[in-house]
Amino acid sequence: MRPENVVLADDGKSVVIIDQTLLPNRLEHITLKTPEDFYDAIKALKVRGAPAIGICAGMGLYVTMNALGGTDREQFLTEMHNIAAYINSSRPTAVNLFHALRRVENAAMEHKDGGIAGMLEAMRKESIAIQDRDVAMCKAISEYGLTFVKDGDGILTHCNAGPLATSLYGTGLGTLILGAERGYTFHAYTDETRPLLQGARLTAYELDKAGIDVTLICDNMASIVMKQGKINACFVGCDRVAANGDTANKIGTSGVAVLAKHYGIPFYVFCPSSTIDMECGTGADIKIEERDSEEIKSKFYREPMAPASVKCYNPAFDVTDAELITAIITEKGICRYPYTESIPALFGKDRQC
Ligand code: MRU
Repeated sequence: MRPENVVLADDGKSVVIIDQTLLPNRLEHITLKTPEDFYDAIKALKVRGAPAIGICAGMGLYVTMNALGGTDREQFLTEMHNIAAYINSSRPTAVNLFHALRRVENAAMEHKDGGIAGMLEAMRKESIAIQDRDVAMCKAISEYGLTFVKDGDGILTHCNAGPLATSLYGTGLGTLILGAERGYTFHAYTDETRPLLQGARLTAYELDKAGIDVTLICDNMASIVMKQGKINACFVGCDRVAANGDTANKIGTSGVAVLAKHYGIPFYVFCPSSTIDMECGTGADIKIEERDSEEIKSKFYREPMAPASVKCYNPAFDVTDAELITAIITEKGICRYPYTESIPALFGKDRQC
């Protein structure tokens, strides 16, 4: 099975993505070719979720350089760095975007001797390898996740960390999807995830498609379902983990973690190890994206739901303090608090992004 959310065309001239902004009502694909196409698709969340953004950006860098071609190696590299910087500026919080672009740039630089054709072939292979590796990581993360659950568990999810946001299975949803394949019955409670409704539009869609019992709740209902004993664990993905374990994920995640602590419910973060950014000491070093107020006031409504003159604050992510996280589950293994010890132990000496 191959990922369907981000597909590199065989001729290397385009990337075809599922337009996630149209789900769940319409499953439509769009074709991306130019640097502007990739920048706009990422910025507008047509492709979204930290790993999927990275995969799309890496393929995008290859596709745009393939179209540019040329004969001068230095000029090729300069253009490549400029386009990578441009695509990287589309969204600031997920570290996967930066990592994937850097990996594809490095592949080209390491194959400079092969001329432009050699560099392009290395970029093509690397961009596909990023996606293949994500498939393997999601599967491994989901296997680890199954050690935390039992049949019949109620799981609270926030935002979307399924196949659409990654490649296959997902990170935060991978355990549920893999478990369902193996005959587990889970009861997912899915936060709708205001303001862009990734939970309602995407997680509910993906879990339902996978045959998992899913109940949609508004974000402000998480407390009542926890208090009523319906939740055994909270599962989320993430966009960047600082070296001390502080974790950036979709706005509202930290509130779920605070509630989970209050009710004594474990709160698990799932991510590829490449989402851990050792250059960020703490969550305070993670840049939080701010988005347009229209997302709060008028998007998804027939008429604006607030006076036009009213100010809005719309951070797209928040940081969950490391102390609130029961475990961070990666493809390399499981980290527990204090993360300043367990994260370096995870990487050992040969850390690879
Ligand atoms: O703004 P989005 O929809 O890209 O935010 C996505 C999330 O916050 C996800 O939870 C995160 O990227 C993990 S995806 C496996």
